[in-house]
Amino acid sequence: MSLVLLSLAALCRSALPREPTVQCGSETGPSPEWLVQHTLTPGDLRDLRVEPVTTKVAVEDYSVLMNVSWVLRADASIRVLKATKICVTGKSSLQSYSCVRCNYTEAFQSQTRSSGHKWAFSYVGFPVELNTLYFIGAHNIPNANMNGDGPSLSVNFTSPGCLDHIMKYKKKCIEAGSLWDPNITACKKNETTVQVKFTTSLLGNKYMALVRQGAVIGFSTVLESDQDKLTRTSVEVPVRGDSHGAVVQLTPYFRTCGNDCIRRKGTVVLCPQPDTPSLPDTSRSVLGSWLPLLLLPLLVAVWVLAAGICLRWRHGRTQMASFPATTLLPRAKVVVVYPSEVCFHHTVCGFAEFLQSHCRSEVILDKWQQQKVAELGPVLWLTTEKQAADRVIFLLSNELSAQCDGTCAGGEGGPQRGSQDLFVLAYNLLCSDIGSQTHACKYLVVYFSQPPAAAGYSALRLCPRFHLWRDAAALRTQLLRVTQQGPVGCSSL
Ligand SMILES: *[C@@H]1O[C@H](CO)[C@@H](O)[C@H](O)[C@H]1NC(C)=O
Ligand SMILES: *[C@@H]1O[C@H](CO)[C@@H](O)[C@H](O)[C@H]1NC(C)=O
Ligand SMILES: *[C@@H]1O[C@H](CO)[C@@H](O)[C@H](O)[C@H]1NC(C)=O
Ligand SMILES: *[C@@H]1O[C@H](CO)[C@@H](O)[C@H](O)[C@H]1NC(C)=O
Ligand SMILES: *[C@@H]1O[C@H](CO)[C@@H](O)[C@H](O)[C@H]1NC(C)=O
Repeated sequence: MSLVLLSLAALCRSALPREPTVQCGSETGPSPEWLVQHTLTPGDLRDLRVEPVTTKVAVEDYSVLMNVSWVLRADASIRVLKATKICVTGKSSLQSYSCVRCNYTEAFQSQTRSSGHKWAFSYVGFPVELNTLYFIGAHNIPNANMNGDGPSLSVNFTSPGCLDHIMKYKKKCIEAGSLWDPNITACKKNETTVQVKFTTSLLGNKYMALVRQGAVIGFSTVLESDQDKLTRTSVEVPVRGDSHGAVVQLTPYFRTCGNDCIRRKGTVVLCPQPDTPSLPDTSRSVLGSWLPLLLLPLLVAVWVLAAGICLRWRHGRTQMASFPATTLLPRAKVVVVYPSEVCFHHTVCGFAEFLQSHCRSEVILDKWQQQKVAELGPVLWLTTEKQAADRVIFLLSNELSAQCDGTCAGGEGGPQRGSQDLFVLAYNLLCSDIGSQTHACKYLVVYFSQPPAAAGYSALRLCPRFHLWRDAAALRTQLLRVTQQGPVGCSSL
């Protein structure tokens, strides 16, 4: 009985034409068909598409692969089609190349599926790396030309970075904090304060909030004490200049990624005023009744402005020199270089914070311009910044390892590789500028605890030196003089 059923089933199966599927395997070299001349060859592919898909490798570990899908042309040449070959070239810092050959399990008996749809197949493979441009080419086998014309259809695909909704599941991204949702909100509290709120991560407890309006106008570091749960934390960042519409950049320093964690951004809006009813919530009719009240001050303001412009225009020539001197002083541009042993967050950031908030200075640090440094190269970057800067400060610290080990263990803001090169470069610039009166006065030395021994950097003795925090006031005076008088003489050298 069962034998009869089995043979019936076999009969039925052989009666229905079996639909081809694909069996794919790596074939990076030429296909064997290339060595043989074929009189009949299949046509081109009709369509080729690529999209990234995630596959779960293990718990909490996903890998991202390409889903390459293609559609065959519905023509008679499909009868001789044996396989389709897909090759992928990846271009990032490394170049990669690999090919896969997909054999059709059956010969094609019809130009379309029984449903009338064109034949379509897909292959999931080819690992997708971050920020890489891929060229994906596909051709049918047997190929028309023995020497090969190259792929008959190709597409480009640029893989996104860690914040993409699929790429964020890559292990590397998870470690860099891609799954953390800080939900940053930032608002301008008053002229000198921006309030930044964000949700902390379990990966670490150290953050830096930086406010930029083009240049950096303020920053604060945040140390969250309760690291074991997600909390909404709030920090008030002191800023210089108008912060409305500025960008807040939040840099986390997690154990897993140190200085290379993913940075997040937010925009500074005006803080809701607690005592006045907020406008957006009120209905239209209420807005209508407010309108005259809003228009009146506006008219007054326009009138005052017009009168002001008129007056200023009349007195313009005589008063030009004295007008903006007190309010619109430019800020001194200061490049800070430091030897690699100095720990960045502990010492360099602290010093930069002091310069920005107490010395009306705009601080330029290689760490804050990593992309620019990478693009220009350290020599060109430093030369350009030195040219534009009012001062170059050599920050020397004697309190090296002891302090540093404790606070910046495990590479988080610990001793900086790469900074040493900049320090040496800056020293060489100083040496070549020593003969020039206008340039040599750009350089200052700032040190902690003892006067620097300056082994190997003897020319630093020629620069004005300031002991922090004892000479903080003198340093401040130096830097403020820059902006009040323009380039100053080199009396101190
Ligand atoms: C596809 O067919 C070729 C030629 O017949 C063969 O060499 C290859 O191993 C096949 N690949 C797979 C994955 O079956
Ligand atoms: C790959 O893409 C094809 C065509 O869009 C789709 O049918 C198939 O389900 C996709 N495969 C995966 C694993 O997402
Ligand atoms: C792929 O990108 C290259 C360079 O970016 C471009 O020249 C080429 O036209 C692109 N090809 C396709 C199929 O989009
Ligand atoms: C982000 O924070 C705001 C304000 O605290 C809150 O209203 C909103 O629901 C939060 N969004 C998410 C996705 O958590
Ligand atoms: C701005 O707000 C901060 C904190 O709320 C306060 O400490 C500071 O004095 C305020 N500044 C001005 C100019 O009102």
